[in-house]
Amino acid sequence: MKRLGEGIRGLVNASGGVGYHLAALRFASRLWEPFREELARELARRFPSPESTDLVVVGPSGGYCLDPAFFRRFRRIVAVDMDPLAGAILRSRLAPDADRFRFVRQDFLRRLGEEGWDLGAWTRGLGGEAVLFSNLLGQLGFLHGEARMREIGAGLARALGGETPWVSFHDRFSVGIGAPRVSLEFASRPGSRELADAWTAKWDASARGIVGEIEEHEIGEWVNGARGPFRYLSWRLEARRTQLIEVCGKT
Ligand SMILES: C[S@@+](CC[C@H](N)C(=O)[O-])C[C@H]1O[C@@H](n2cnc3c(N)ncnc32)[C@H](O)[C@@H]1O
Repeated sequence: MKRLGEGIRGLVNASGGVGYHLAALRFASRLWEPFREELARELARRFPSPESTDLVVVGPSGGYCLDPAFFRRFRRIVAVDMDPLAGAILRSRLAPDADRFRFVRQDFLRRLGEEGWDLGAWTRGLGGEAVLFSNLLGQLGFLHGEARMREIGAGLARALGGETPWVSFHDRFSVGIGAPRVSLEFASRPGSRELADAWTAKWDASARGIVGEIEEHEIGEWVNGARGPFRYLSWRLEARRTQLIEVCGKT
């Protein structure tokens, strides 16, 4: 019953699943292209030797924000997602070479918890050595209740505070307009006000009225395990919705 329950949650959930695949069908090829390219450049800085890296990618969905040309350079990729549709889509987008790509359908939070929140043990168990959290750590608050979020928060802080190299890109802010593109970098993590001011500095007057409607995503204590730099990229999710994506980690 657990597998079936996980499969259904994988197909229908607030962070991915069928709704996200449909949005990707509409927007991924054109509207998401600039973000995909900028993200690939930023990830190349953080993973400078992909040819000798075995990467675990967590929550990639169909990999719509992952640039195939960059991801094909990794020696091996193990993709972990609870969405049963993700594997086949990812395989066709990222991996012509089946020997170097494996998809594992798994609720990684449950399995990491079973490993005592030891990121190294979990990663090695999958045959990887570094982890990319692929836009899900800013969405956990939509998926889990308060009590479970407390457990997850403490667990992830432990997991990401260890020695295993990791990078995460995740939502920090959302706003209901098509905001102009930005790429911002800070040596240490900016507070919300400082970041919002930097993000909106170049918005024109017509967009300024909406500054007060910026939503901030719940990011857990795990982020304290990241070292600088902290990079911020805008992702035009829909015509009238923009995410400010935070990229950080420890590699
Ligand atoms: C917003 S999507 C990621 C988008 C993706 N990075 C892209 O390139 O388009 C978030 C993904 O995280 C997955 N996910 C959420 N919680 C998970 C968990 N506990 N274990 C595994 N996958 C999870 C969802 O199934 C979904 O596919």
